[in-house]
Amino acid sequence: MYTPKMHQALNEQIHHELESAYIYLSMAAYFESENFPGFAQWMKMQFEEEMEHAFRFFDFIHSRGGQVKLLAIAEPPDKYESPLAAFKKALAHEQKITNDIHNLYSLATDEKDYPSLSFLQWFIDEQVEEEENVGGVVEDIKRVQDSEHGLLMLDRELAQRQPGPEKEEA
Ligand code: FEO
Repeated sequence: MYTPKMHQALNEQIHHELESAYIYLSMAAYFESENFPGFAQWMKMQFEEEMEHAFRFFDFIHSRGGQVKLLAIAEPPDKYESPLAAFKKALAHEQKITNDIHNLYSLATDEKDYPSLSFLQWFIDEQVEEEENVGGVVEDIKRVQDSEHGLLMLDRELAQRQPGPEKEEA
């Protein structure tokens, strides 16, 4: 059964996903201004992924008979101390989103909402990937941190990021 409690929690997750998109687009703007076009490209791809996540929740809520209510999104930071600081923030943010998804899963379990459990499984897997991807960049930047040349090479490497293939539906 699709309960009001579950509806509210899923609706809030759209807000979290759109907020993530906003944060990453702002990080892309920061990297553009710092002449790191590759890091900026990576963040733009991340923005696109978050929009896709938001739409998954949007469509799911409507398929259950609910109506999405969009909430206000706070202004994201536009300055960071360094590329490492920005990616560390991104990792911390993904860890928070993972926690949100796990809380949703627990709620769906409590509410015996089996369609939501099935829907959320995709996100549980996706968050493992999200943390791995961002965490990988954090580790790479740590390795080259004091080397301008290393950062330049990494920037070029991250410029290659393309939209990922859609994971198969469960
Ligand atoms: Fe939608 Fe990056 O979590």
